[in-house]
Amino acid sequence: MKGLLGLEHVDRDELVGYLELAEQFVDDDGRPHTPEQYRDALAGDSVGLLFFEPSTRTRASFELAVQRLGGHPLVLDLQTSSIRKGETEFDTCANLQSMGVKAFVIRHPERQLPLAVADRLEVPVLNAGNGSGEHPTQGLLDIFALRRHFGSVKGLRVAIIGDIVHSRVARSDVFGLRTLGADVVISGPAQLMPSGGHWEGVEIAPTRRAALEDADAVIMLRIQKERMHGDALATSDYVREWGVDELVAEDELKPGAVVMHPGPVIRGVELTSGVADGPRSLILKQAGYGVAVRQAVLLKVLRNLTV
Ligand code: NCD
Repeated sequence: MKGLLGLEHVDRDELVGYLELAEQFVDDDGRPHTPEQYRDALAGDSVGLLFFEPSTRTRASFELAVQRLGGHPLVLDLQTSSIRKGETEFDTCANLQSMGVKAFVIRHPERQLPLAVADRLEVPVLNAGNGSGEHPTQGLLDIFALRRHFGSVKGLRVAIIGDIVHSRVARSDVFGLRTLGADVVISGPAQLMPSGGHWEGVEIAPTRRAALEDADAVIMLRIQKERMHGDALATSDYVREWGVDELVAEDELKPGAVVMHPGPVIRGVELTSGVADGPRSLILKQAGYGVAVRQAVLLKVLRNLTV
């Protein structure tokens, strides 16, 4: 398959290939670093970045990843593009493809759209989040962060707490982590939990305490209000039952367990600042690793490069 649309059908070897290549792009302390031999790897290539939903980390890290490999990120300003006049997303991409754009990074609120566009284009598409579908590079960077912290993800118990049903991050995390032999437990308010589908092999915990018991890592998720219709949740109930503050962390997390979040963190809801900025937090490391992982994915997809 050209491009990277999800982790659901990516096998172990391919996952490990991305992770090992990504290791090339961090220094011993885990900071972003591009070795000399890769600095022109994408020279002459333009990569189109089309974000039809807000983004900070994903967009910035894709843009930096293309730049650090010597390529040119073409960030389309959707507010002033012809999409505003009624042009379809596919037509926009097809026209840019004709101008020599070599790959597209697409985020879109509709699950099917990036997949349908990818199907019709000649050049590869990297899915940067399709509705509540998948977010494969976030899944990879979460696994990368766990792997760097623990050495391996095999046998780890990873809890994912919050708005599971709307979360493309949870889905990609689950697919990647299961393939690499981690145990995943999901938990959250009943109306934010999935009712079947692609969640085989995943444990469902009834409470936060049950989810956190024996977990090596917890990935906290934001409530995706933009994907909810009417069924408002009382924030105070949510915080009490599902939020993690210093007391909960002390009482319910085992020693050595880490706290993760794909961002944006809504401070005071899923995490207090004391936890988000505390010693267990890998949140800023995750953001930094996002660049390395996207460099690896770009090199694999555009240059078929492996280590
Ligand atoms: C997530 C997303 O957009 O899916 N953020 C991200 O890419 N780092 C999660 C979210 O928006 O809550």
